Amino acid sequence: MKNNRRRSFIKKLLAGTTGAILAPSFTATATNNTRQFPSLDIDDTSEAFWEEVKQQFRFADGLHYFNNASLGSSPIPVQEATNTFRATLDSFPSKYMWGDWSDEKETVRQKVADLFTVSKEEVAITHNTTEGMNLIARSFDLQPGDEVILGDHEHHSGTVPWKVWQEAKGIRLVRPVLPILPKTVEGIVSVYRDAITPRTKVISMCHIVNTNGMILPVKEISEMARKRGILVAVDGAQSSGMFDIDLHDLGCDFYTASAHKWLFSPKGIGIFYAKQESQHYLKPLVVAYGYDDTSIRRLENYNTRNLPEYLGLGAAVDFHTNIGKEKITKRSYELKNYFRSKVQNNPIFKLKTPESDQISCAIQTLEIIDKDVRDVKKQLFENYGIDTRPMTNFGLNSVRVSFAIFITKKDIDYLVGALEEIAV
Ligand SMILES: Cc1ncc(COP(=O)(O)O)c(C=O)c1O
Repeated sequence: MKNNRRRSFIKKLLAGTTGAILAPSFTATATNNTRQFPSLDIDDTSEAFWEEVKQQFRFADGLHYFNNASLGSSPIPVQEATNTFRATLDSFPSKYMWGDWSDEKETVRQKVADLFTVSKEEVAITHNTTEGMNLIARSFDLQPGDEVILGDHEHHSGTVPWKVWQEAKGIRLVRPVLPILPKTVEGIVSVYRDAITPRTKVISMCHIVNTNGMILPVKEISEMARKRGILVAVDGAQSSGMFDIDLHDLGCDFYTASAHKWLFSPKGIGIFYAKQESQHYLKPLVVAYGYDDTSIRRLENYNTRNLPEYLGLGAAVDFHTNIGKEKITKRSYELKNYFRSKVQNNPIFKLKTPESDQISCAIQTLEIIDKDVRDVKKQLFENYGIDTRPMTNFGLNSVRVSFAIFITKKDIDYLVGALEEIAV
């Protein structure tokens, strides 16, 4: 990227978020975050471009953060926007909490809806994926003997709510075993197909499993389920923001996500999508004044809540869309393939994430042969400042590495170099 274009990129990135939200004011418009971003040069896919994106994030000195799948980092413009919302709220708490930000909340809802190509009447802003899974699992009036399918790689946030709210009532939780390294989409779809019986009522599944980063084919499974009158609930904690998602095209009934991972929002903000025709199944987890609202807003009606973070989500979506979701998608795959090309032919390593782009993206797991992953994780951190997540379940014995957009190819070179040194 040429220097002047780089400078204008940073200016646009900063102007789009922080500039829109100013010091405390007594008018709602002064805090509106509806200002449009100028679009960037989407053709610039150079490493220099991504180095500039990286400059928008601030990590601790010496830290190399490959652990985005555990928790994301908010870029500076998103932090600043959220801090300003906090100051604004604290300047006149009752005014902002009870009404003055109504339009701003709707603007955030619209931005999220646009990101996922759905209607804003299908989007609620929650706290995280776990809340969404609880909401779904608690809503259903299932009967003893009814079945819910939960693959064996589901996160605790996707299994505990079903156990607590449904299994105790005599509902059968069916736990099919997924292959660790399927070669094709059909290799996963067939597992779900085989698990379906006439008693199956819901399939609850991750879009990307947190264990080895495998993408589950939600679209194909939703199509299969719809024909049989089965509802599909998706845990999107690891997919929302990693690549472009059109939720109508995905075809699931419900999708619950944590924006604080791959969308880099303030912490404690979640996105909940429910298809229009499936919304009637849902019962709010929390009820308060206004509980009889028939719109999807009834699902986020908590009375006093974390509005600075809610509005900060708008800044996070702006940050994302300003770079461009197509461009982010391309980059996620580029980093995945770059990493794999560096390790896949080395006999000291074994990749534990599928290869095909259809079922594998920016979360990868890697085993160093004959090394205990807990030791590998420790050495990576203590000797190289690299943060990863060790995965021990399912015989993975692998470090899980995440390639969010603040990771550059240089960072991957550093990671691979460290892994090679630890291996010898
Ligand atoms: C697949 C999956 N689901 C759910 C969660 C829980 O996310 P949260 O704590 O934001 O609800 C995680 C967190 O890592 C996850 O990886």
